[in-house]
Order: sequence, then C-alpha cells, then structure tokens
Amino acid sequence: MGSISRGRNLGPGAGAGALQVPCGRVHQIGALALIAATFLLTRAFDRLSCGLSYGGLASVASSAALFDRAGSLFWPDRGYGSRLDLKIYVYEEKEIDGLRELMRGRDGRISPDACVKGQWGTQVKIHQLLLKSRFRTINKQEADFFFVPSYVKCVRMMGGLNDKEINNTYVKILSQMPYFRYSGGRDHIFVFPSGAGAHLFRSWATFLNRSIILTPEGDRTDKRDISAFNTWKDIIIPGNVDDGMTKFYGSNVVQPIPLSKRQHLANFLGRAQGKVGRLRLVELAKQYPDKLESPELQLTGPNKLGRTDYFNHLKNAKFCLAPRGESSWTLRFYESFFVECVPVILSDQVELPFQNVIDYTQISIKWPSTRISTQLLEYLETIPDEVIEAMIARGRQVRCLWVYAPETEPCSAMVGIMWELQRKVRRFHQSGETFWLHNGSVVNRDLVEFHDWRPPVPLP
Ligand SMILES: *[C@@H]1O[C@H](CO)[C@@H](O)[C@H](O)[C@H]1NC(C)=O
Ligand SMILES: *[C@@H]1O[C@H](CO)[C@@H](O)[C@H](O)[C@H]1NC(C)=O
Ligand SMILES: *[C@@H]1O[C@H](CO)[C@@H](O)[C@H](O)[C@H]1NC(C)=O
Repeated sequence: MGSISRGRNLGPGAGAGALQVPCGRVHQIGALALIAATFLLTRAFDRLSCGLSYGGLASVASSAALFDRAGSLFWPDRGYGSRLDLKIYVYEEKEIDGLRELMRGRDGRISPDACVKGQWGTQVKIHQLLLKSRFRTINKQEADFFFVPSYVKCVRMMGGLNDKEINNTYVKILSQMPYFRYSGGRDHIFVFPSGAGAHLFRSWATFLNRSIILTPEGDRTDKRDISAFNTWKDIIIPGNVDDGMTKFYGSNVVQPIPLSKRQHLANFLGRAQGKVGRLRLVELAKQYPDKLESPELQLTGPNKLGRTDYFNHLKNAKFCLAPRGESSWTLRFYESFFVECVPVILSDQVELPFQNVIDYTQISIKWPSTRISTQLLEYLETIPDEVIEAMIARGRQVRCLWVYAPETEPCSAMVGIMWELQRKVRRFHQSGETFWLHNGSVVNRDLVEFHDWRPPVPLP
C-alpha cells in the first residue's frame, strides 16, 4: 500500500490530520493509468497523488470529516467509488414464509410502530428507508445485495417469538432463498440492532457467517467465545437516538446549554447493571458530587428518569461518560452529540461506525476503562473550555451521520451505510454450492441450472 503519506493523525497538534483526505479525481485518473503501469509505477503514483496537499480544503482543516457544499460527506475514492450506484433487493413479507413471524411475531400482532422506537429502532428504520430508496430494485437478477427484513429483537422482547422459534424461523426463510445459496449468503444483509448482535439467531455461525451484518455491536466476547462481528464483512451502524433529539422526526426537545452554565464537569446517567465501570462511576460521584453526576438509577420506580428529565440532566455537563454496559456499544455515545457534550468512551472494545471518514480523536475521548478514578476527573478538568467547544463544534458537523433520515438528506446514517455497502459489492458470486460450465451456466451439485433451483434449497 502506498498511502503512508496520508496516514492517520497520531501526533499531537496535527489537527489537519483529522481529514481522511480523499485521493479524489487524481487518484481515479491514476486508476486508468494503472491498467498499463507496473506495480512499482502504481505505487509511486499512489504516493504522489495522495501526498499532494489539498490546499482548498485547508479552511475545514480541523473538522472530523469532509463535506462538499451541498453537505454531502466525502468518501475516499479508494474502495468506495466516486458516486453511489447500488441495487438492493428487499425481500417481501409475503414472498418468504416465515418473514412475517420475524417481523410481527407468531400471531402477527406486533406492530412495526411499536418496534421503531428506542435504541433498537434501526431494525425497522433501515428496512422502511430501503423500501423507499432509489437504490432499491425489484429485479433479483440485477441486485448487488439482498436485504432480509426482520424485527426480531423487538419481537423477542415482546414475547412474539422465543429463541428456539427465532432460530428455526431464520433457517426456514433462508431455505426459501435460492440467491442466498448461490452466493453462500455473501450478498445478503441482516440487521441485528442490539448488543447481542447476530447471536439473536442462535445458529448464526453456521448460516450467516458470510453474510453482511449491520449492527452497533462490535464485541460480545465477554459472554460468548466468538464475536459475531467481523471487521471485514460487517458494518457498524449508529444506534437509534430518540427522534426528539433530531430534527427529522417530531420536534427537537433538546436545547443545549452554554458551556459556562453547565452544572457538572461530567455525568453518567444510566443503570449500573452491576457492571464494574458503572459502579465505579456511581462511587466516584458520591466522592465528588459537584463534579460528577452519576446517580443510582433504576429501570422503573422513583429512581427512574423520564425521557425529558434524562435529556435535561445529560446536557448539563461538559463531558458525557459512556461506559460499557451489557455489551461494548452504548447509545449514550451517539446521544452526546445532540445534547452537545463531549463523549468520553469508557468501553475498551467498542467499534465505531464509518471509521474511514470520521476521525474520532477530533470529537470524542476514549479513556481506559481500567482507569475510571479520580485521575479521570482530574484529567477532564485540565481541558480548556475552548478545546471542548471546538470538539463539540466538530461533533455538530458529523452528527448527521447518526440520524436515520430520509434519503433526500445529503448526510445521514443511511447514506453512510450505502457507501459502506458499496465498498463490499462483488461482481462475481460463488459459494461452495455453486458450479459453472463452459457456457456460463451456473449449476448446483446436481448440475441443475440456477433458474431451476426450487425452494427449499438445502442449507449447511
Ligand atoms: C437452529 O435450527 C436448525 C434447523 O432447525 C437446527 O439444526 C439447529 O440445531 C438450531 N440451532 C440451535 C442452537 O438450536
Ligand atoms: C461458517 O459456516 C460454514 C458452514 O456453512 C462452516 O463450515 C464454517 O466452519 C463456519 N465458519 C465459522 C467461522 O464459523
Ligand atoms: C450449458 O451447457 C450445459 C451442458 O452442456 C447445458 O445443459 C445447458 O443447457 C447449457 N446452458 C446454456 C444456457 O446454453
């Protein structure tokens, strides 16, 4: 790889390094030359073109990502392409026996409206946005990807299906998808919106271990021996922040407070759930009540914070601590950008979305969870208000990427997901169960041509 010259910003004071400078047109033209050029030449060119200084972008040199005038984010050409051009087939509820159960429960009584709220709402929102998307195709033959809708996290919570039913229903739907068998699942997309990730489907490792999983959860090795998340094929998505925080759905209920008027240095407003880091914060808050707000909260009863109360407390500190909970991702990280406090990640294994375009060092702090102590508060106190303001300002620029807004918006979580998906397009599909003949005919093990593969197709 010849990109050493545009490597990540690791040194102090290298604010401009925040930009993941796109190699742009120059790079594309370079790609043409590549056809003729030797490997060495290519390398040399790559260094040259990417090493150029992008003088015109200097004015935004301290932002966490790059936007054009229309407010669209720049995605590096390398691997992403210069524009979005995708075709996604969305399986229909009626087409596949079992999808309805995965979306509405065994009696069909759970409504999508009930599942769209809360931090796991992504399982519904992504589906609904795809249905309206200009990237949707109804022609399976031309599809780059196949989206399999399922609201199973919600359905399970509401008693609509148990773990065994979920597992069996997934296996049942997959056996009705010849295209899934064709590619070995490589071009099939699944959303698992919670900390459990793909583990919601018990036998995911047998059936979905090649598929693209959209999940906020990058690590579950504390409870399972293997993580369902794979950096190379899966995509980390932002959690679903409350609609009241964004301007796209309902009214914006959160008005940030000026920094100088905030009551606390830092806060953590969540249940301790018996987790070491969280318990330590509760203790620390008792020691330094004027600096850290971290009450012992419950899910219900008098010690539960209502929605508005929660926002009002959250926005009243300069730093919002985001400790690991049941799993490594935490919604608080995303919420911080809307109440405009600087998120401090206290979750060592966390994976963050869109890492090719966002430099998280410019908008957040990640502190070792093993050092949750007075030292953390002392450190946060040393950070001048101007620096905090600047971090918040940069966060304001990129937070559009956490919003599941309609496609008409130039910047949204969906746009980000589309780019990440585009990077994973493969022109040629194959699996252990696909074979091809001299004339391009794709056949299965019994030499049956693909268009004659009839469900149920055999699965592993
Ligand atoms: C999931 O379902 C499949 C098919 O019914 C079955 O073979 C498998 O053992 C199940 N997995 C678990 C963990 O129960
Ligand atoms: C993925 O699934 C296949 C069966 O489809 C299995 O042979 C393979 O071992 C699995 N890989 C992992 C990492 O679980
Ligand atoms: C390709 O060749 C196979 C084996 O000769 C034949 O059965 C099949 O019909 C051919 N397919 C096409 C599209 O010509």
